[in-house]
Amino acid sequence: MIYYVQKTIEELDSLLTKISCDGLFLLMDENTERLCFPLVANTALKNAVPIVIGASDANKGIESLCKIWQALINGGASRHSLLVNLGGGMITDIGGFAAATFKRGIRFVNIPTTLLSMVDAAVGGKTGINFSGLKNEIGAFRNSEAVVIDTSFLHTLDDENLRSGYAEMLKHALLSSEEMWYDHINFSLEHPNLGALQQMVEQSIAVKSSIVERDPHEHSLRKALNLGHTFGHAFESLALQRGRPILHGYAVAFGLCCELYLACLLTDFPEEKMQETLRFVHQYYGTFPLSDKDYPALLQFMRHDKKNTAGHINFTLLSDVGCPSLDNQATERQIIQALNQV
Ligand code: GLY
Repeated sequence: MIYYVQKTIEELDSLLTKISCDGLFLLMDENTERLCFPLVANTALKNAVPIVIGASDANKGIESLCKIWQALINGGASRHSLLVNLGGGMITDIGGFAAATFKRGIRFVNIPTTLLSMVDAAVGGKTGINFSGLKNEIGAFRNSEAVVIDTSFLHTLDDENLRSGYAEMLKHALLSSEEMWYDHINFSLEHPNLGALQQMVEQSIAVKSSIVERDPHEHSLRKALNLGHTFGHAFESLALQRGRPILHGYAVAFGLCCELYLACLLTDFPEEKMQETLRFVHQYYGTFPLSDKDYPALLQFMRHDKKNTAGHINFTLLSDVGCPSLDNQATERQIIQALNQV
């Protein structure tokens, strides 16, 4: 269930009253405790037991998970307790996984505070942590009781984080319809209109939810949501290896460029729509610095993608805007040609 909140205090209180529980816990990271908790401090959450972990993806591991489990035990949590996750994708992923595994599963509510988590991470039941240097390697599918979307949190975001979340919205638009795609590539990220963005967030979540409802465990259709991510994850891993990490959405935006190019080659995606999308990405996200020396590492990262089957690198492509094509394979030469698009 997704709730859009306009007046945080009253609406959050009435939602939390509906979910009866014998203990209320609030997971935050150091940033959301400082920047976002004040926006909900006058709700029922003021009486919740706070659990605070370090911010950033580096803290999305087993140590933080143990800290959350221990805090639940110390606070006397039972199977009828409720965990509220207030934060970006890192918090909703690890909090969801802590809740999914504590006493074989307690209920949780996600209050995403970044654009990326509103339109993607907090919605759809994927939970998890990083392990052994691999992103989201350990996890579970577990739905939250509710996702509370309050776009006033967007005012706490810097430009880069806004653009990062917007890349997932662009992906949803490409998967959805010509009209939605057109609106998205004509939106100004230089001077974003947050009122208009709020409506686009609802539309974007609706695209994701309708795909997840039809295929919650990613047996087929949900793979469409991986558009841009095979290349995207490889860019993200390479940037991390270089010691110059980039935000997930930037990696996805560059991944979309490469995968739309492959789509032109392999699934007849119209070239002018590819060019228009690339223009938008290059205008607002710049380019990913690459030389041919990086190709072997990028190919290696793609080969290790957990979405692969039987040793093949699988790509989600499009035959047109709104028409996903799943499980495509490309030659090494085509992949390298596509890398030249960023
Ligand atoms: N982020 C892609 C998915 O939830 O399936």
